[in-house]
Amino acid sequence: MKITVNTLQKMAQEGQKIAMLTCYDASFATLLEQAGVEILLVGDSLGMVVQGIDSTLPVAEEEMLYHVRCVARGAKQAMVLGDMTFGAYQESPQQAFAHAARIIQAGAHMVKLEGGAYMADTTRFLVERGVPVCAHIGLTPQFVNTFGGYRVQGKSEEDARRIVNDAKAHAAAGASLVLMECVPAELAREITESISVPTIGIGAGVDVSGQVLVLHDMLGVYPGKKARFVKDFMAEAGSIQGAVQSYVQAVKDKSFPAAEHTF
Ligand code: KIV
Repeated sequence: MKITVNTLQKMAQEGQKIAMLTCYDASFATLLEQAGVEILLVGDSLGMVVQGIDSTLPVAEEEMLYHVRCVARGAKQAMVLGDMTFGAYQESPQQAFAHAARIIQAGAHMVKLEGGAYMADTTRFLVERGVPVCAHIGLTPQFVNTFGGYRVQGKSEEDARRIVNDAKAHAAAGASLVLMECVPAELAREITESISVPTIGIGAGVDVSGQVLVLHDMLGVYPGKKARFVKDFMAEAGSIQGAVQSYVQAVKDKSFPAAEHTF
């Protein structure tokens, strides 16, 4: 069955968890969707796990389009979600639409943008022109230099209220998904309960509509210190397919993320 925005909305309403993973090529796109992953995120994390850069910032539009095309060729049912790249959409809603249109034409069904309530006008502009939007809030990696590192967001009451406001603004602007990265589980639960849009968490606890991880992290491939919210599913599985199936199962039965993966 083809996964659409309606499928995701229905799953969230019925309490069925959504499984998302990042994906950068056609072979993995086929493997992941056959293992039951509903959303393939062509994340700008490709800068780190594919290109070996230390942030997502230098990933170019052309590189994103190349990977979206690759993933779209391998995906028959899963939703393909393409990341908007740093510098290619923040200037104006018009600039964002031109960038989003190229990502959709490359084969994505939805685009993801980073930023809080101030980006809600852009979300609305895209949605009104036929581009479904996933709004990425909380720890937004394209702001690494502003945040001074990859830090948990929403720990103070003031910051938490700001993030709730961000989620509500994007939901009101018509976003199809709100993705929260590295926020306290309690805050993610409050947001999920206060908007009618499905929420996806990464380092946001279990009380969200679905989960996402970076593929290389959950396969134990990416070198360096493992973030708290990451589980290496390959450690116990005999194969890549087995690891992805365990991830999907753990998301669906809510055994992942556990308390040890949560802030
Ligand atoms: O680029 C990416 O992989 C992401 C995830 C961390 C959500 O944005």
